Amino acid sequence: MSGQLKKLAVLGSTGSIGVSTLEIVREFPERYQIVALTAGSNIELLVQQIRLFSPRIVSVISDLDVQKLRSQLEGVDVEICSGVAGMIACATVPEVDMVVAAVVGAAGLVPTMAAIKAGKDIALANKETLVTAGSLIMAEAQRQKINLIPVDSEHSAIFQSLAGQRREDVRRLILTASGGPFREYRRSQFENITPADALAHPNWDMGQKISIDSATMMNKGLEVIEAHWLFNFPTAMIDVHIHQESIVHSLVEYQDGAVIAQLGVPDMKTPIAYALSWPERLSLSQQPLDLCGIGQLSFSEPNKELFPCLQLAYDALAGGGTVPAVMNAANEVAVEAFLTNQLSFLDISHVVEKVMSLHQNEDLTTVEQALRADLWGRHKAQELMSGGVA
Ligand SMILES: NC(=O)c1ccc[n+]([C@@H]2O[C@H](COP(=O)([O-])OP(=O)(O)OC[C@H]3O[C@@H](n4cnc5c(N)ncnc54)[C@H](OP(=O)(O)O)[C@@H]3O)[C@@H](O)[C@H]2O)c1
Repeated sequence: MSGQLKKLAVLGSTGSIGVSTLEIVREFPERYQIVALTAGSNIELLVQQIRLFSPRIVSVISDLDVQKLRSQLEGVDVEICSGVAGMIACATVPEVDMVVAAVVGAAGLVPTMAAIKAGKDIALANKETLVTAGSLIMAEAQRQKINLIPVDSEHSAIFQSLAGQRREDVRRLILTASGGPFREYRRSQFENITPADALAHPNWDMGQKISIDSATMMNKGLEVIEAHWLFNFPTAMIDVHIHQESIVHSLVEYQDGAVIAQLGVPDMKTPIAYALSWPERLSLSQQPLDLCGIGQLSFSEPNKELFPCLQLAYDALAGGGTVPAVMNAANEVAVEAFLTNQLSFLDISHVVEKVMSLHQNEDLTTVEQALRADLWGRHKAQELMSGGVA
């Protein structure tokens, strides 16, 4: 790969991960070229990105936004598509080498699967894809012999800590969690949490949905499921430690007691860059890690009673089949309702738990089935919330 131009499609280019990815591309124009971009509804930012990176194809969610884009891009040579078909077209452009999957939520599943089927390497940020249909995604990735490189900082750390080791020597994976903005809260303080409180993550600057997931610790639960599928270790071998400094991004413990970890400043550009350049490393213009300045690193057990979403995710993984897809869908709906002041912070986990308890589990064999389970979870969550069940 050294010296060779890698052609990229970025799904979710207007999001937090998408924007950081494009900043790296801008820093290394001799290494990366943007061929395709997809956005949701942030047309203004997409227009700027099109002008800067000259992709040959882009996609947005709605047809109305296609018209808006066309009117703002007169004279610019770019194909504009929409909807799921548009995302698939962007994910499968023949000359693309790697697809950066950075859409938020289960909406990322279908285009990511299409990219894998088309033989593209994947830099995977969109953890909900693996939560919803991890067994199908990993099986297809193996069939197509593609590289699926994690972008999530914890999984990038595990990926790096496993490199060069024998998997049979692994005793456990330890995912670190900052604990979010409420790690010091007492039970009584959870009653009146507002979206603004929950969005104020102490260490990471991220999109809204993952910020709320971090506050409930559902994010760590989704990451346990993601780690299970990415690295193929049973749930019993995947632990979570609270590490409020977010410097040790995750660790692998081996049979002889040795523990290998990856450390760095909390900035997603490092794991994104590693996913783009693996097995090489880019000389990023990053702040170096100043361990002496930080002084101390702390670790503790997570409190699953105060943060029930973490346990719900372990339960979903233990249930298997369509349960994780349903849990993820209910969580997406509940988080959206919380962000729009229609649901309390505490009721996010109540809605998810109730939806999971009502679901008739099935073995997961097709993407269509995962999508049906996702839809069922969304409808059930809406129904429960409008009936005041939460
Ligand atoms: N942010 C982080 O630091 C971080 C770290 C680790 C993992 N991740 C994971 O990476 C993924 C992206 O996170 P993020 O924080 O970058 O999210 P984000 O800032 O909310 O960005 C999400 C992107 O997806 C697009 N999008 C949203 N809904 C869509 C839909 N239904 N169809 C098509 N596109 C849609 C958005 O478009 P518009 O904005 O144009 O509407 C945006 O481009 C998530 O799965 C998250 O868990 C993020």
